[in-house]
Amino acid sequence: MRWRHTGFAAFCLFLSLGQMVAARAEDADPRVAIAMTASEKAFVLGQMRLFVKSIEQIVAALAADDAATAAEAAAARGALRFQAENAMPPTLGPKFPETWRSFGQPMRKGFDALAKGLTQGETEKVSLARLGEVMRNCVACHESYRIVDAKN
Ligand code: HEC
Repeated sequence: MRWRHTGFAAFCLFLSLGQMVAARAEDADPRVAIAMTASEKAFVLGQMRLFVKSIEQIVAALAADDAATAAEAAAARGALRFQAENAMPPTLGPKFPETWRSFGQPMRKGFDALAKGLTQGETEKVSLARLGEVMRNCVACHESYRIVDAKN
């Protein structure tokens, strides 16, 4: 009888320790979690990697005075192209909170504005300022959200 109680107490301790570890993991990452299926997550992270790739292309092209290449790299990540491609999983849109959109939409529009400015002969300095403005949305969103696996 006594051993059974000890065993049960040990089991309870084990459970509460587990909860404490889980709670601490939550505290350590205060970003809001958005649950996504494997394919939704793959789509979002794939877009993210394209953002980095395009920024690399924009910066390298600006440094080489190649406005046409920089403009094309920016346009590739813009809202106009994204809407025309229409590749976003339809289940994803409703999962995005309003604040998420408030980072994502100005970012896409900022890429379009950067592309347009570059085709209209804006200076490299103005283009870099626009790119910096675009990237503030990357930073702000990354501070706010993280992706977790949906349970289904
Ligand atoms: C609207 C929100 C949002 C915006 C805007 C945003 N990101 Fe992200 N990004 C995320 C989230 C959420 C993750 C996943 C983070 C996590 O789960 O820890 C992510 C992940 C990434 C990753 C990791 C990709 C991988 O394969 O793991 C890269 C790189 C990245 N973002 C780059 C960018 C760049 C560059 C920009 C701006 C041009 C940008 N992101 C804009 C939300 C955003």
